[in-house]
Amino acid sequence: MNELRFGILGCGNISKTHAVAVTNAKGAILSAVCDIVESKAGDLGAKYGVTFFSDCEAFFKEVDVVLVCLPSGMHAEYAVRAADQGKHVLTEKPLDITFASGIRMVEQCQSAGVTLGCISQHRFARDVQALKAAAESGELGKLIEGDAYIKWYRSQGYYDSAGWRGTYEMDGGGCLMNQGVHYIDMIQWIMGGVASVQARARTAMHSIEVEDQAMAIVEYNNGALGVIQGSTATYPGLSERLEVHGTMGSVVVEGDRAKIWTVKPTDQHEAFGPMVSLGQPRELTDDPTLKDWDELHRLQIENFAQSVLNSQAPFITGRQALEPLKVILAIYESVRRGGSKVTLDEIASGRDGA
Ligand SMILES: NC(=O)c1ccc[n+]([C@@H]2O[C@H](COP(=O)([O-])OP(=O)(O)OC[C@H]3O[C@@H](n4cnc5c(N)ncnc54)[C@H](O)[C@@H]3O)[C@@H](O)[C@H]2O)c1
Repeated sequence: MNELRFGILGCGNISKTHAVAVTNAKGAILSAVCDIVESKAGDLGAKYGVTFFSDCEAFFKEVDVVLVCLPSGMHAEYAVRAADQGKHVLTEKPLDITFASGIRMVEQCQSAGVTLGCISQHRFARDVQALKAAAESGELGKLIEGDAYIKWYRSQGYYDSAGWRGTYEMDGGGCLMNQGVHYIDMIQWIMGGVASVQARARTAMHSIEVEDQAMAIVEYNNGALGVIQGSTATYPGLSERLEVHGTMGSVVVEGDRAKIWTVKPTDQHEAFGPMVSLGQPRELTDDPTLKDWDELHRLQIENFAQSVLNSQAPFITGRQALEPLKVILAIYESVRRGGSKVTLDEIASGRDGA
């Protein structure tokens, strides 16, 4: 077999990106779509000339891989149902919204013998991959700080556009669980994992249950410290940033492009280093991974297809996607405890109340 039949479950906003991405990914073919609202499945199916369903059990029969594009709090339930039918699962982020659901997905997919992956498409951007490689190779020296800033803006209209948005039950949280998860995933991945967090959060301006402003101090497994700031209340929305500092240098990635990449020459003895400011990208060459909005999804979907076809683990496994989920749940638990320190081990041992 050199091609897998992919099906999209949930034909809302992000399904269009998946449809384009699958169509252009090697080893993948779009074969069916499904939505509980039949007209949404029908519209997407007609656009791509594929069969559409409103009943997911019938849909599962037509595919090898299920792309879960449902509201976040439904990911586990449908991933497990797909796995029970022997289908591989690539779910949208976050993996799910509780640790118990996330671990259930991982374990059920493992026991069903199917592959589980979770979308974190920005990890496929060229400069993000280069930063990860530099962090691992020691190019930046010993890592001492890792910060993620996700100061975005979402209107009240966005939250009102679907009943699940901004709810604890189905969104699981706000600017961190929904929007921030991408950059929380990347900073914890680059820094080698989070040990504990201390956080404050609040709902600053929207009429929603969940947070639209959050700030956390993070301690990484290697002792490095950092900051995570998430918001959907920062008008007009700033480009998201990762800032990684080691004893030998700093990298700042803004909007998936490296804006600062400064490593100390080994023979430098002066007391003060050069000051740098955010400016032009490090390289002015086009980054082919950022050529269009769907390209990062295409890269991840292609990686998933090739991994299944070659019986290898995908670049981002379901188990790895538990890590950003634990960080976010630990931040929420710290907020509930008035800002005191919460370890990720507490979340993993089920003390987050989930
Ligand atoms: N990776 C990214 O950049 C990115 C961007 C946007 C959204 N997402 C994620 O994608 C997921 C979906 O988000 P969205 O914005 O597309 O939501 P959406 O509300 O636009 O779409 C969800 C769709 O699921 C359908 N649905 C609900 N219950 C269903 C069921 N039981 N069976 C079949 N269909 C059902 C709805 O009718 C709707 O069409 C979320 O988890 C979100 O976090 C990821």
